Amino acid sequence: MEIEFVKAEAALTEKTALAVVVFEGEIMAGPAAGLDQTTGGALNRALANARFKGAKGQTLDVLAPAGLSAGRLLLVGAGKRDAWDDVAAEHAAASAYSAVKASGLTVLRVVLPDGGERAVHAALGVRLAAYRFDRYRTKEPAEKKPSIEKAELACADPDAALAAFADHAAVADAVAFARDLVSEPANILYPVEFARRLKALESLGLEVTILGEAEMKDLGMGALLGVGQGSVRESQLVVMRWNGAADRNAQPLAFVGKGVCFDTGGISLKPADGMEDMKWDMGGAAAVAGLMHALAGRKAKANVVGVVGLVENMPDGNAQRPGDVVTSMSGQTIEVINTDAEGRLVLADALWYTRKEFNPKFMVDLATLTGAIIISLGNDYAGLFSNNDELSENLLAASKAEGEPLWRMPLPAAYDKQIESMIADVKNTGGRPGGSITAALFLQKFVDNLPWAHLDIASTAWKKPSTVPTIPDGATGYGVRLLNRMVADKYEG
Ligand code: BES
Ligand code: MN
Ligand code: ZN
Repeated sequence: MEIEFVKAEAALTEKTALAVVVFEGEIMAGPAAGLDQTTGGALNRALANARFKGAKGQTLDVLAPAGLSAGRLLLVGAGKRDAWDDVAAEHAAASAYSAVKASGLTVLRVVLPDGGERAVHAALGVRLAAYRFDRYRTKEPAEKKPSIEKAELACADPDAALAAFADHAAVADAVAFARDLVSEPANILYPVEFARRLKALESLGLEVTILGEAEMKDLGMGALLGVGQGSVRESQLVVMRWNGAADRNAQPLAFVGKGVCFDTGGISLKPADGMEDMKWDMGGAAAVAGLMHALAGRKAKANVVGVVGLVENMPDGNAQRPGDVVTSMSGQTIEVINTDAEGRLVLADALWYTRKEFNPKFMVDLATLTGAIIISLGNDYAGLFSNNDELSENLLAASKAEGEPLWRMPLPAAYDKQIESMIADVKNTGGRPGGSITAALFLQKFVDNLPWAHLDIASTAWKKPSTVPTIPDGATGYGVRLLNRMVADKYEG
């Protein structure tokens, strides 16, 4: 999707859809009034024959209006004026794009109700909404493909907007990178291939190191390796580093991702229905990779390390059994009650390794960890679990600013009882009550008192159907924007 910033009066063509974003209850207050005149009252006639009131996401299509050189005139509701912010601008432009993406027109012009002050965010909204994963479609008819090739955002100072857009474009690219990883099927994206795609990020200036099973064995990562042992695909641990701070040796921030490229449940096999969804059980690793992509893309002034544990959880003659005891890198032993609670085993070693190897200021892990978080929070909010209030506040503020909803959950030490093992230091499941909480308590045993936060994104990594205009059905890329925003607002300069 090509993005251009233009002056409000820039010429229109027959192949352009002109989208005018309006506030609810004040439709004719802005540029709409002038357009009604230009079109000989077509707009008021259309409004008289429709229920359009300018509510958030509502659109009204006026085809080939006489007197206007655009192919369509589209009103897009932004909701109430007092709810207008960066995210609202993104959503309005994304809704405009979705309304005309397959119209046959090739250009989308967006006119905002604020004179174009938030045009940069509108552009980001279009870029995110236009994401598509079509690598494996070989026979899609042309008339089903999106026709819009370019978005023009009207604003007062196009040069300044274009310059300001550069950082947002880097974020949009990073979100698309994460969405691609999540969308890929598991026969294509297995741990070694995932690692290869991360290695390729060195072209952006990241340092990428890959550990294979032999190295992980030497480090004593029995928890992670146990998960992968039933797979013919080799497990991998990938470390991505971005050193953009003035002092390249300053203590880094660390982000850790669960990368289960496919989760069958292992010997504790999942039911067949919906198992295909488990190709996106690497959404945490994709978010961390996307974050590193964004930081490098916009040359962030921070030292950041991203670590992802990549495995495939398969049933096999060599797979680990329920009841097995594994020894983690930390030295703590784990009784594997259920081989489907594998994400926490992967993170146990990835977190401990990150803590020991990089001594970071804090660690934030992201994981599609529990079905229980979907029961707790539904499909919009991810769950936040943390031993640190300041880190939590920073994550929640970034979540709000970027429109990636996050809700803090409790981490009560009393529930530790649920994961006490009879024969080992800890067991990997705590039963159904508070399933996301006991999963988080398990992880906490591997962070060694460092400030730490865990984002359970099983609820948000994938959306079908999507309810957010900037997220097409499927992979969301949840977490990339939130983490990038937190780094930008709190840990740079
Ligand atoms: N990957 C799943 C969690 C999940 C479920 C993600 C649904 C996305 C959608 C995880 O590995 C898992 O299987 N968790 C179990 C834990 C249980 C065995 C303690 C679960 O949530 O049922
Ligand atoms: Mn599982
Ligand atoms: Zn899993």
